[in-house]
Amino acid sequence: MRAMQEAVKERGRFAIALSGGRTPAKLYVLWAHAEEQGVTTPWNRVHLFWGDERYVRHDDLLSNYRMAREALIARVPIPAANVHPMPTGQAEPEKAAETYESELRAFFGSEPPAFDVQLLGLGVEGHVASLFPASPALEETKRWVAAVEAPAQPPKRLTLTPAVLNQGRNTLFLVAGADKREIVQALRGEPISKPSQYPAGRIRPAGRVLWFLDRAAAGTAGS
Ligand code: 6PG
Repeated sequence: MRAMQEAVKERGRFAIALSGGRTPAKLYVLWAHAEEQGVTTPWNRVHLFWGDERYVRHDDLLSNYRMAREALIARVPIPAANVHPMPTGQAEPEKAAETYESELRAFFGSEPPAFDVQLLGLGVEGHVASLFPASPALEETKRWVAAVEAPAQPPKRLTLTPAVLNQGRNTLFLVAGADKREIVQALRGEPISKPSQYPAGRIRPAGRVLWFLDRAAAGTAGS
């Protein structure tokens, strides 16, 4: 909330990059619920973008856009022009990545692509957004959006690259479940002086980085 107020005050808008996965879905439902409880969001100032997307139709069950639409967008008065899903209708994902990059460049103008908030999940092998271990997109310093082949279903995906994700003003990692405990510990144990061997560890923006772990992922739940 504070990040949103600051962004609206300083820049007249709040740009957030949403994530897919099960964990953020709960947050979207809570955000929509807050609206019903009278905690209002200045929706005309909020711009929703995506950190990654599965290359499927927007009405597909696997679509990250669909998940956010059902949990949040359809329940709040956000102007349609403020919702910026990753395009998935083109035959070539590479072209779709270029289209989304142009949309981001038009939005940020001459400023760096620094999201006010970026929500990120964590995969059991350390993936973040759709940046999986050994993906060439991890080395991307110029392109903002990449079309990638992920070792997950569905394999074709679009993802923001570290060129964008390392600019974020507020980065929120949302991690839940005992299956994440090992990777959380591995990331914690890495020296920060060296580049991380995990994609999630390669996202080290100068802004605020917060990790939200449930007890199972943090390793504090009884086993
Ligand atoms: C996706 C994601 C991905 C996700 C992690 C964690 O589209 O799959 O954006 O990076 O955030 O896999 O997902 P869970 O929260 O479901 O564990």
